[in-house]
Amino acid sequence: MRPLHQMSLPEKLLHTGFIILACFGMLSAELYLFVTHTGLDGKSGVTVKDIQISYYGDRSSSKIQSVLPTMLTNAGVDKAQWPAIEKTIDHWVQNGQTEAEYTAKIKPIVDAHCMMCHSVAMSKQLHNPPLATYNDLKKVAQINTGMTINQMLMGGMVHLTMLGVIFWIAGWLFVRTRVTAGLKGLLVIVPFLGMLLDFSGWFATHYNPAFAWMVLIGGALSCPIAALELVGAFFDMWVGLPGFLSSKSAS
Ligand code: HEC
Repeated sequence: MRPLHQMSLPEKLLHTGFIILACFGMLSAELYLFVTHTGLDGKSGVTVKDIQISYYGDRSSSKIQSVLPTMLTNAGVDKAQWPAIEKTIDHWVQNGQTEAEYTAKIKPIVDAHCMMCHSVAMSKQLHNPPLATYNDLKKVAQINTGMTINQMLMGGMVHLTMLGVIFWIAGWLFVRTRVTAGLKGLLVIVPFLGMLLDFSGWFATHYNPAFAWMVLIGGALSCPIAALELVGAFFDMWVGLPGFLSSKSAS
């Protein structure tokens, strides 16, 4: 197997072209992930909470729950009654939003405190959602359950195949550097394992938010490590690597 630094100029240029494009590609992928996942929890940077909101959703709160305090104020409801109303609505939202429970528990509250502004007629004037029927209420009680299984499978199809090819080429180039065999072995397999951890983490997090760490750690070990291999290959090819990285036999 001919090492990179002994390749002909056209071969080196071919590999260099790939290295540059793939590094920019992976950088854009990371930036894209960053802008689509960051700040979902109101804090900057991609946090565990952001990952949870993306894949598990934010099931603690629906629209009706988040605006309830404002609406109870609008309705002039005495603060002493708030906890009971909030508890009733929370229970209905989190327990499947059945029609029976709506009729028994929710409709009376809405009729008493909300309909003066949320009747079909008033909602046209006030530009707010009507809350006249079960279906109206269900619409504002939807909780965010994060990415759907279909979206994740679709994402997996694109990610796993595309990154699989890029990681393979990065590894192919990296095994042709003068880096020590142990380090090569480690670095070529890590991006694949990272990607598997990341991908299975999407599903695990979708069912249990406690698994969000899988996505964060898997993500950190996939593209960044492949990029490191490419950068290593680039330097080995054109300028050589610092002594502590290179194995003596190969150089
Ligand atoms: C005094 C009038 C008034 C009362 C009473 C009232 N609302 Fe509203 N509601 C509004 C207006 C106006 C809006 C639209 C503007 C806004 O979002 O603040 C609105 C919006 C909403 C929204 C949609 C919020 C969004 O961001 O899309 C929900 C859900 C809602 N109200 C629920 C309720 C519930 C439940 C009650 C009864 C506990 C209630 N409202 C009582 C006036 C009222």
